[in-house]
Amino acid sequence: VPLLLLWGVMGYLLGSIPFGIVMARLFGLGNLREIGSGNIGATNVLRTGNKPAAALTLVLDAGKGAIAVLVARAFAVEDAVQLAGFMAFLGHCFPIWLRFHGGKGVATFLGLWLAFAWPVGIACCATWLAAAGLSRISSVGALAAAVLAPVWALLLGWGSAVVMAVALALIVFWRHRANIARIMAGTEPRIGRKES
Ligand code: G3P
Repeated sequence: VPLLLLWGVMGYLLGSIPFGIVMARLFGLGNLREIGSGNIGATNVLRTGNKPAAALTLVLDAGKGAIAVLVARAFAVEDAVQLAGFMAFLGHCFPIWLRFHGGKGVATFLGLWLAFAWPVGIACCATWLAAAGLSRISSVGALAAAVLAPVWALLLGWGSAVVMAVALALIVFWRHRANIARIMAGTEPRIGRKES
């Protein structure tokens, strides 16, 4: 059990790295907290108009979820693999470096699924692309991917991960509660537009 905890801590610390904030600083885009939704994710970096910075944020935030899973899988038991991925997601949402005010976890969610169970990951990415493509709204893609992930896990033979999938979906919805209110009010911005 102490070893399991260690893998959880490893995942959490990896997930805590706020790449959006790092990229915004590196690219001289200013303080992400004062831009658009104020969120630390790739969607909000894109609102600065800098596509490379947004793409890097997406890849690195997804990558930290994937790396947490892959490192745990290389060295630990299967229980630790789920825990490491889940904790990376929690780290992104509640990072110690930002006094626990983090992001919404979507890229990290996609990355951990791609590494943990790639068919589920692909299905989640496709769900995100379809829903965001149709609506032109990033959060709609996120909510659709989160809600369908448990279904994809069950259908694709990853029933052992369904509890994690449901937990991830609940937290994604909780982190998007302001977005959900805006979607219902019809004021949620389209991808890439600058207002929040
Ligand atoms: O990945 C987060 C996305 O679903 C919403 O981001 O900045 O529009 O709140 P944002």
